[in-house]
Order: sequence, then C-alpha cells, then structure tokens
Amino acid sequence: MTQDNDIVHQIDRLRQDLNAVVLAHNYTLPEIQDVADFTGDSLGLSRQAAASGADVVVFCGVRFMAETAAVLCRGKTVLHPDPNSGCPMADMITPRQLRQLKSRYPDALVLTYVNSSVEIKAESDLCCTSSNAVAVLESIPADRTVIFVPDRNLGSWAVAQTGRSNVVVYDGFCPVHMRILPEMVSAARVEHPSALVLAHPECRPEVVAMADAVASTGGMLDFVRKSQADEFIICTESGMLHALKRVAPGKSFYPVAPDPIAACMNMKLITLPKLLWCLQDLAPRVVIPDDLAERAYSPISRMLAIG
Ligand code: 13P
Ligand code: SF4
Repeated sequence: MTQDNDIVHQIDRLRQDLNAVVLAHNYTLPEIQDVADFTGDSLGLSRQAAASGADVVVFCGVRFMAETAAVLCRGKTVLHPDPNSGCPMADMITPRQLRQLKSRYPDALVLTYVNSSVEIKAESDLCCTSSNAVAVLESIPADRTVIFVPDRNLGSWAVAQTGRSNVVVYDGFCPVHMRILPEMVSAARVEHPSALVLAHPECRPEVVAMADAVASTGGMLDFVRKSQADEFIICTESGMLHALKRVAPGKSFYPVAPDPIAACMNMKLITLPKLLWCLQDLAPRVVIPDDLAERAYSPISRMLAIG
C-alpha cells in the first residue's frame, strides 16, 4: 500500500466512525478532491454544509469557507485542516473600513461576497457568491444604493450584467486571478484556436471581456458538461483543471498560464496528512462566538433563500 493509500484508508475509517462529511473546494489538491464526499464551488459547498446530517463537517478550502460552514452548521463540529489557509482578498477589508464606508452611505445596503471574514459578513445585509452575484444584486430594489465588498472585479462584472448605476464597489481583488493577463489569453487562443475561453469573474475586466463564458467554478463544470465543444482554455485557479477532468474526462482543458502563476497557495495548504490529523484530533475547530455567528447567519441565509 502506498503512503497516500494508507492515509486515505485511515481517513475513510475515521469519517465513518465519527459520522463526518468531508467537503472540498474545486481548487484544492487533486488528492483532496478525490477523497472528499462532496466537491464544489462556494455556493454548492455552503448548501452541502447546511443540509448535512453529519456530526462533524471537515472543510477543505480556505478559512472564510470553513467559517461559512460553521455559521450554517451550529451545533456540529466544524474542522478546518489548516487554519493558516486564508484568503488575501478576504483580508483586504476590515470591519472598521466597512463601518467607515457605511457611514458615508448611510442608506445603502451592504452586499458582501462570501470571500470575506465572518466579522465582515456580520456587518452586511446580504451575501453572494460568484455564481449568484447577479441574481442577488437583481433582488435588491433598483432605487436602493448598494455597497459591494470586497472584490472589485466580481462587483463591476455583476453591475455590468444588471445595468445598475447605484453600486459603490470596494477596491479588493484576488491576487491569483489578477496574475492572469489578457496577453496570456491571446497566446493560449493562438495555441488552441478551437478552444473556448472560460473565465472566473474574479479575473480582470480585460480578461473577462475576452471570454466565451464567465462563470463560478461550479458554473464552469456545468458549462463543459453541457457544451458541444471539446477544448477549453481555463482562466482561473489551477486546481480547476483536476475538477474539470473529473466531470469531462474525454475533453481537453488548457490552463491559461503554467503553474504556479494561477495557483492559490492557500488552497494547497490543505493536504492529506492534515486532513487525517484533524479527524484524529477533532482539531483545529472553527469556533465562532454565538452573537457573531448569529449576525453573520442573516446575510448568508438571505442569499441561500434567493437561490
Ligand atoms: P467559486 O465560488 O467560483 O468556487 O470561487 C471561490 C473562490 O475563491 C474563487 O477564487
Ligand atoms: Fe482567495 Fe483568490 Fe485563493 Fe480564491 S483563489 S481563495 S479569492 S486568494
């Protein structure tokens, strides 16, 4: 038995004993995606966390995702295999900065991308993910000013899709997606002229403008499943290549940039040994004070109700 097989075997035994469910984001390492009970995008995994009948939820992804699961699964034990796995975009806005923004626009409604800390969510009216940002924005009355935090690329893309003018978009961004440049897309198109370009809305507007489809990671998986095309250039984090091959093994996927240009190192901190240790130790746990969890729950549950 190889070392990885042995670890997977131990993970399997423990998750059964503990009635645990392992959730993994589409950007995690291939071996983590393969061992997970469910893989998906931020919205899909939030829904899985909320619906789970497990006693223990292990979230393989970055901290804000594990925090969202903990807010939705109060009463369950929520584990995050590496608490150092954060998200630089989420760290780009502090509660103090958001409160300052709110005081400048006192009548505005705060729409917060789930790539944010639990403290920011607690200061918000509504949450969204990249797969429902347009629908959530459209659900807000047209005459209401909206503050959108923290991602300027997702925010401006969603604003363009809805044609709204009264949205104040914060200046945060994802450093991984910002490393994908239009000239990389042009070069990939020359190399693979028959391929469709799929881009995540966290990419720069110039990259998004070059794409044949703009979608969340879950949206990309749906797109390739349904598409007649056989080749795709992928403008998002490199873990997606494995997720795409799993759903469409007969199709070809080309990363827009070679590793590690589009790799999210925080996602790669979640490894098989850390997953095993956290099941063995029932730690590290994601513990959110009740009042904070209560306040963060409202905007997340409003998002889930919109669909
Ligand atoms: P998705 O919701 O599309 O999976 O995106 C999460 C993320 O962190 C993108 O960088
Ligand atoms: Fe955060 Fe970007 Fe990594 Fe997504 S890819 S978790 S937005 S740093």
